Amino acid sequence: MKHSKRDFLRIGDLTLTELRQVLTLARTLKDELKGRRTETLKGRSVAVVMEKPSTRTRVSFEVGVAQLGGHPVVLTTAGSQIARGEPVKDTARVLSGYCDMIVYRTFASETLQEMATHASVPVINALSDDGHPVQVLCDVFTIEEALGRSVEGMRVAWVGDGSSNMARSFVEAAQIFGFHLTMAAPPDYLPPTHEREAAVKAGSLSIHGTIEGAVAGCQAVNTDVWTSMGQEAEQQKRLQAFAGYTLNEKHFAGAAPGAIVLHCLPAHRGEEIDNELIEGSRSRVWSQAENRLHVQKALMMFLMGLAS
Ligand code: CP
Ligand code: NVA
Repeated sequence: MKHSKRDFLRIGDLTLTELRQVLTLARTLKDELKGRRTETLKGRSVAVVMEKPSTRTRVSFEVGVAQLGGHPVVLTTAGSQIARGEPVKDTARVLSGYCDMIVYRTFASETLQEMATHASVPVINALSDDGHPVQVLCDVFTIEEALGRSVEGMRVAWVGDGSSNMARSFVEAAQIFGFHLTMAAPPDYLPPTHEREAAVKAGSLSIHGTIEGAVAGCQAVNTDVWTSMGQEAEQQKRLQAFAGYTLNEKHFAGAAPGAIVLHCLPAHRGEEIDNELIEGSRSRVWSQAENRLHVQKALMMFLMGLAS
């Protein structure tokens, strides 16, 4: 097994300097190439393995690899031997013989780690129960693009499920990129205690009792679904727990001027966000979705040693 490969299972797998290098390259790819095809990944293949549904992540990685001149191979649970119980460590070794990178969406972080441990090629976390690091890295790019300055020192809000993969990657991103995350979430849906306490102690996270309290002074406000993939059995309980957490324009009265709203999508209008807000002038959700393509292309190039 090669030991020099770089994985991206969490944001902290890259240093801040390296993350900045990826975001700078993404800017160049978006501004200069505008989706034009290059030969950067000529002769290389990337496996995109999806154990949960996906629209944006699947298409942005598949198209991104194609735009870089490589060959994407998409595997879903139902269409592969994963559905019949083939061990992840076997899939990891087999795919490493065919492909130059594995993009992997799964459930438990242990399964993600098993793929990374047994793959001899870089593995990118395309969402797990514990985090959605590519999405949040892309969201940092979108915030900086929309507001025209570095996220460092900003106040950014998280409203809704604070225990979700998205919220947990935002907690991690705040510590690494140097912004302050304010959070409004029901008490039973906060980040795990050790992650929360470490972030609060580091001064990068504060928990607020109201949405208005979290949004006050913020330049960007994020939310996500109340019931994540794999939690469907809890949906009724969650609908009750999150009652009153529907983000709307009124919550922005104390926000910074020009504050934007983000949602990684798919959205449930009338639950975590109301229709007026997601369709309104604060919303950057469509450029947020598009930026998946540019940032992930840059990330793949970086992990393959092709970024400079
Ligand atoms: N935001 C996101 O990851 O969307 P998909 O589930 O459609 O990939
Ligand atoms: N928290 C959501 C994100 C979807 C992109 C989920 O895991 O379903």
